[in-house]
Amino acid sequence: MTAVSIAFRPPAPKPRETPLGFFGMISALRRNPLEIWTRAHYELPVLVGRGVMGDRAVVSDPMGVRRIFLDNAANYRKDDLQLRVLRPALGNGLLTSEGDEWRAQRRSLAPLFTPRQVAAFGEAMAQATREGVERFDRRRPGQRIDMAQEMARLTLEILEHTLFSQGLGRDTGEFQRAVTHYFDTVGRIDPFDLLGLPQFLPRLGRLRGRATLDWFARAVDDIVAARRSLIESGETPPRDVLTLLLEAQDPETGQGMREDDLRANIVTFIGAGHETTANALTWTFYLLSQAQDWREKVEAEAQAQLDAGPIDTLPERMPVTRAVFEEALRLYPPAAFLSRAAIADDEISGKLIRAGTVVTVSPFLLHRHRKLWREPDLFDPTRFLGENRDKIDRYAYIPFGAGPRICIGMGFAMQEALIVIAHLARRFRFDLAPGHRVHAVQRVTLRPQGGMPMVIRPLQPQITSA
Ligand code: HEM
Repeated sequence: MTAVSIAFRPPAPKPRETPLGFFGMISALRRNPLEIWTRAHYELPVLVGRGVMGDRAVVSDPMGVRRIFLDNAANYRKDDLQLRVLRPALGNGLLTSEGDEWRAQRRSLAPLFTPRQVAAFGEAMAQATREGVERFDRRRPGQRIDMAQEMARLTLEILEHTLFSQGLGRDTGEFQRAVTHYFDTVGRIDPFDLLGLPQFLPRLGRLRGRATLDWFARAVDDIVAARRSLIESGETPPRDVLTLLLEAQDPETGQGMREDDLRANIVTFIGAGHETTANALTWTFYLLSQAQDWREKVEAEAQAQLDAGPIDTLPERMPVTRAVFEEALRLYPPAAFLSRAAIADDEISGKLIRAGTVVTVSPFLLHRHRKLWREPDLFDPTRFLGENRDKIDRYAYIPFGAGPRICIGMGFAMQEALIVIAHLARRFRFDLAPGHRVHAVQRVTLRPQGGMPMVIRPLQPQITSA
């Protein structure tokens, strides 16, 4: 029986009527930054304020977003708070470097993510996913799984098959736990940082995360050493991202990447490339579990398309699945909070942005802005189908950021997501575990609090050979 199409409205944080006071703000930022937004944030294009934490602006006007990320991008650097959260692990890699250093790295790394190179990763992505499907096959029908953990494991395995094909030299479960621990410790906003207290004062989260950081450093040493010894042994190394990183040269200067930048980028790709996609997939399967009509459409598309052409053309061949994924990225953008600091005075939507102002563009807020979207909290993938897609303002929908610092892994993530959704939707149904209340929290990424318990069932009886 085809399920009736009932528009699904996932639970959303209720906008506050009044802004939080100083201590309320500190505690909400630490607990869950999604809770700070007021009705005005959801309705006005720009809010500028001066508080104990300095000058702040929240911009949700697409023209303003364009100005910050593109037209006047040179005037906006990554702000100190963001760097304090990310740099302990990501060092001076692509996500966290600035100015000429960033430009040189981006030039060297861009060839790793060209459409051609991403297409070449398609088969490896599919292979890793098929191994994931086998793991799901071993589950009892009706068994409870944590989809968030499953997706984290699968995306990590995909990174192993594509970026670091000799393996990460560690158990993926161990890696997964280390990344989660990092986000829960170092990745949490520290009240001391908000108060602008000096760096020599120890931050509890960072102390708790130190062992994880050492663990990452050792893991990266091993990854690099294993590859170098393979190259030295005269064997042809696999053409994966690690080899490309080792060979990467700035096309302008011909220089190779510095040793610490190389290491920083290995951690950056693992960190930025795994959690984000895993969360996006988790939210997608949650939304599908609540919107049966869309789930059936995705299942039908997967049945018809998965084996009907080259794997890297799935994003074009599966427009409905793509629209569902894009809608999941709208409602639950994994990078829910982007920020910059203004270097010189600027004007955005008629408001003065003083030099030093920390400007926040929150994809979460922007994607649910009352003046930019019809029924913003409603799950409605038709927004991304056919002509509707063209009506969306480029700067009202920015799950991957925008301008020169747009996500370098965007094409990689889209292809990966479609491959994973198609393989799983063709074989299984995932329903939310009865009684579970879904609640989004923002750490470094937007994740479901307490995971996403779901019940797995095979979609069709397995064909077993005699
Ligand atoms: C659904 C998945 C993903 C989402 C939503 C996402 C989101 C983003 C966003 C919003 C930015 C811009 C940050 C800013 O402007 O401050 C970004 C940058 C970045 N992303 Fe992604 N990302 C995803 C997947 C990936 C993957 C798969 C990789 C690598 C394999 C990756 C690597 C990076 C890197 C290295 C940067 C820094 C780029 C630069 O500053 O030049 N991301 N990502």
